[in-house]
Amino acid sequence: MTHTSIIILAAGAGSRMKSNLAKVLHKISGKPMLYYSIKEALKLSDDITVVLYHQAQKIKEEMNKYFDDINYVIQDHKNYPGTGGAVMNITPKYEKTLVLNADMPLICANELKKFDGDATIVMSVLNLDDADGYGRVVIENQQVKKIVEQKDASLDELKITNANAGIYQFDTKFLLENLANLSNDNAQKEYYITDLIEMAINQGKILKPLFVNEENFKGVNTKFDLANAQVIHQNRIKKKFMLDGVIMRLPDTIYIEEDVQIQGECIIENGVSLLGNTKIINSHIKTNTVVEDSTLINSDAGPMARIRPNSEIKDTHIGNFVETKKAKLQGVKAGHLSYLGDCVIDEGTNIGCGTITCNYDGIKKYETIIGKNVFVGSDTQFVAPVKIDDDVLIAAGSTVTGNVKKGELYLTRAKKKTVEGYFYKHFGEEK
Ligand code: UD1
Ligand code: CA
Repeated sequence: MTHTSIIILAAGAGSRMKSNLAKVLHKISGKPMLYYSIKEALKLSDDITVVLYHQAQKIKEEMNKYFDDINYVIQDHKNYPGTGGAVMNITPKYEKTLVLNADMPLICANELKKFDGDATIVMSVLNLDDADGYGRVVIENQQVKKIVEQKDASLDELKITNANAGIYQFDTKFLLENLANLSNDNAQKEYYITDLIEMAINQGKILKPLFVNEENFKGVNTKFDLANAQVIHQNRIKKKFMLDGVIMRLPDTIYIEEDVQIQGECIIENGVSLLGNTKIINSHIKTNTVVEDSTLINSDAGPMARIRPNSEIKDTHIGNFVETKKAKLQGVKAGHLSYLGDCVIDEGTNIGCGTITCNYDGIKKYETIIGKNVFVGSDTQFVAPVKIDDDVLIAAGSTVTGNVKKGELYLTRAKKKTVEGYFYKHFGEEK
């Protein structure tokens, strides 16, 4: 299929999303829907055109984060609205042109390859229990006759369960010759790409319907569709990891984004979210833990831990209610209730419950560096910047405001005081 041009239609307003964000920027597994269309298209062709109009600049900026050298075209939406209008004024390089709607985040290159063929048009058909939201494919005597849009359909046509999935491979010459003949004489006053089907049939051209499934071809028009598509996408991601040997407890409750890597023997418990550029290697992530843009190797975290961006955690135990951010921990135990941000902590060190790295003075962020075999007592605050050498003991309840040298005990506590019988003096005598 290498000699096929691809046009991705992403100019629509997406009004059914009821959102200020352009439809194709809504995310599935952490990436905008349009990302998936472009990513899969790039596997098949070097001639890709993305058609934009609504929020074009914003969409381009977002896509520039992921792809270079994509050809964007702005639709003349004012004069030629609709999916047919969107393909006007494009000159595909190759003899065949594949047109994709950009609101189909589940498509994959292998499925798109099936559109290859000699027909003038290869079109995709979904057979659904309920085709609500899709254009209906009118089939008579086992021949496709036309596509009728939901808004233009008669009551009988609305009952049709064959839907247009929204992907077509055109003979490029046919496409270019017939676009000018589209009209906007329909309920939406738009130029429909789907009208080309009837034109091809009337000209006696060969039309090939390709039956496809919603697993790969679901269209997203509403936030309900978005949620359903995401479930399918998540199941794909999780299935792949489980087949690779990852244990998932109650996988339906786990959320894993597109770029996450999981390697070796790992257990991911229920309610875990693995976000962004996260890498989990030979580790155990316990219930309701969130890991974002971080790496865990030979470690365990949670339940209910929060590993925030740029944490590098190796051979380490992270317990409940521990939050890390930009923390480099190697061979550390931090079992309970701590905030470890902008810090480097070395092997054999124990972080007591309630430890806080005070990394921010309201203006700048500062680093806490803790060496090997340090015993940090509970309820310690490190007021950064601060450096603790190896073999140090920090007494519970200390506020560490300066560097501590190898072998030292560090202790800051108010002097102990007791006043005998003070309770009764304050609240009255014992009854
Ligand atoms: C379209 C099809 C419908 C099919 C469905 C499959 C038409 C007329 N109808 O309907 O038969 O069942 O997809 O999901 O094609 N777009 C533009 N410019 C525009 C309008 C839309 O680029 O002026 C883009 C949108 O950004 C979107 C795609 O085209 O990515 C489809 O548009 P949408 O409005 O969602 O079409 P549907 O009503 O779903
Ligand atoms: Ca759609």
